[in-house]
Amino acid sequence: MLRSRPRIVVSRHLPDDVEARALRLFDSHLNTGDQRLDSATLHQLAGTADGLLVCLTDRLDAEAIKALPPGVRIVATFSVGYDHIDLGAARARGLVVTNTPDVLTEATADIALLLMLGAARRATEAQTMLREGRWGAWTPTGLLGTHLGGKRLGLVGLGRIGRAFAHRARACGMEIHYHGPRRQPATLEEGAVFHPSLESLLGISDVLSLHAPSTPETRNLIDAAALAALPAGAILVNTARGDLVDDEAVIAALTSGRLRAAGLDVFRGEPQLHPAYVSLPNAFLLPHMGSATEETRAAMGHRCLDNLEAFFAGREPADRIA
Ligand code: DGY
Repeated sequence: MLRSRPRIVVSRHLPDDVEARALRLFDSHLNTGDQRLDSATLHQLAGTADGLLVCLTDRLDAEAIKALPPGVRIVATFSVGYDHIDLGAARARGLVVTNTPDVLTEATADIALLLMLGAARRATEAQTMLREGRWGAWTPTGLLGTHLGGKRLGLVGLGRIGRAFAHRARACGMEIHYHGPRRQPATLEEGAVFHPSLESLLGISDVLSLHAPSTPETRNLIDAAALAALPAGAILVNTARGDLVDDEAVIAALTSGRLRAAGLDVFRGEPQLHPAYVSLPNAFLLPHMGSATEETRAAMGHRCLDNLEAFFAGREPADRIA
């Protein structure tokens, strides 16, 4: 069938101006009701589509990719992370995949800062006490947190978000250290100290913050042994992916006090999370909202549309990852 405009399926409700542009550019099937689509429904909707605009809530594993109707030639994911898509299977099928780097860097770094401060300054306990009407008089020794100035921030990954968080942490007076697959050039390090091994980084990190992708190699990277290697009373921050940490080990360390506190925005199996987290007063928790600002979510949507537009115009999409 000859079509004047490419047909795309958008799996979730997106900001209004993004949806309006999607309708202008393409024959777009929108999900304005924002129902989470199971793979059978996505597959069915994809029946006559040329491309998909998906989110991290859509799992495109090898089986799902294999089952995609042959007309689907591109998948644009509304995320920088792409652990929900089997890129190997996509390549094998000749499917182009794009993501949304850059545009969510600052928003996610802001959330990392919020998590670090919330954990260091006992925000969960303070909020609960206040909201439950248990705030007595101001006391000189109540709800004492820990100061960040002069402390060492260990970043697992000095990519875009890690660097943006480092800028904020320097403003708090922190010293920046990092570990990653390779040493970054001095212009990107901006004085951060490179540790060739994770063990070395763990040993000095008063606050450890995760900025690595979820891969088979990084799964459970922060396990009981890693937590034991941190200085006693360290703080853990995670804005990356939940499966980088071993939940049981983190919960045990928070319970014993070996970890002073944790600030977590991402969880294994979200939107479910290990039930013990919610009863831990020293866990400051957010529901995966690193990129959740109006500006950022609009920019992410437009980035997806830019990639789709380039692809259907026969150009190389700027954010191609497969
Ligand atoms: C991403 O883009 O990968 C974030 O986790 C959600 O915005």
